[in-house]
Amino acid sequence: MVEATLWHPVADSSALTDGPLAARLLAHDLVLWRDDTGCARTFTDRCPHRGTRLSLGRVVQHEGRASLECPYHGWRFADDGACVLIASQPSFTPPASHAACAHEVQEAHGLVWVRLQPGDTPLPAFEAETDPQLRKLLCGPYDVATSAGRIVENFLDLSHFGFVHDGWLGERAQPQTPAYTVQPTPTGFVATGCRAWQPQSNRLSTEGSWVDYRYELTAAFSAVLTKLPQAQDGYRDVIGLFVCPLDEERSRVWFRLAVTDHDSSDDALRAFQHTIFTQDQPVLESQQPRRLPLAGGEVHCAADRSSAAYRRFLIERGIRFGAIA
Ligand code: FES
Ligand code: FE
Repeated sequence: MVEATLWHPVADSSALTDGPLAARLLAHDLVLWRDDTGCARTFTDRCPHRGTRLSLGRVVQHEGRASLECPYHGWRFADDGACVLIASQPSFTPPASHAACAHEVQEAHGLVWVRLQPGDTPLPAFEAETDPQLRKLLCGPYDVATSAGRIVENFLDLSHFGFVHDGWLGERAQPQTPAYTVQPTPTGFVATGCRAWQPQSNRLSTEGSWVDYRYELTAAFSAVLTKLPQAQDGYRDVIGLFVCPLDEERSRVWFRLAVTDHDSSDDALRAFQHTIFTQDQPVLESQQPRRLPLAGGEVHCAADRSSAAYRRFLIERGIRFGAIA
């Protein structure tokens, strides 16, 4: 499965203290925990002994090193998954076959990322993360009863603003979507020349404004939006959408904000994003089928150029999780 070779976000870095913390990715249960150096570790959430959830266990010290202890019979697993203690047979040296199934993990953009199988695709880029002029903040997670593809497609969609976000990101009286351009990139595509009339583009806007939009698909289930409101000189919002495909029809969503608003409180910035996304969520959860139909069955118009490019991208890359091909 191609998706298993890609990096996906599975948890907020701040939610992973010592652990263990249960997570889910691509219909696969995971346990996350931190080793002595504070590095995140992840295993399949299943003890090789009798299939118990390791996330119900605890992180303990074993011979001077943090290890994960199973809640059932107390077997202990080192940070690479190797079984280092069978509590009932303490003098027995466990063989390699007794190891927990470890996966690659790293942290970026405020999130813990996992890939289930080795691959050569890098983590989705979010260049705004290192821009010192921008303030960063994580919003979410939101658990949404639909596929990751439906959520990405909604994020790329301009022509719903006047209806779903009336009075905020659009106005019913101004539903036209001006033409825009879509060009392929190594990781997906970029949509430029997008414009939308927005009564309340961001928390600081005081009047309606045309807003220039740029969208970039940075991975199968990640995208970055840059917003430049014409009425706010020098103001810039960069919003990363990072979706975890929990199951084919269930997803967990985070937004990484990188904004020039250094005045609003964290709560106020999150509240704005919450208002917008909870307008999207019931519409997203109403869409049938929940899986993105790649093989036809829905019709398109010229405003859907990004959606069409996204579906083509998934088809070309062989990504089928949460899709009907
Ligand atoms: Fe985990 Fe027995 S099931 S130690
Ligand atoms: Fe929306």
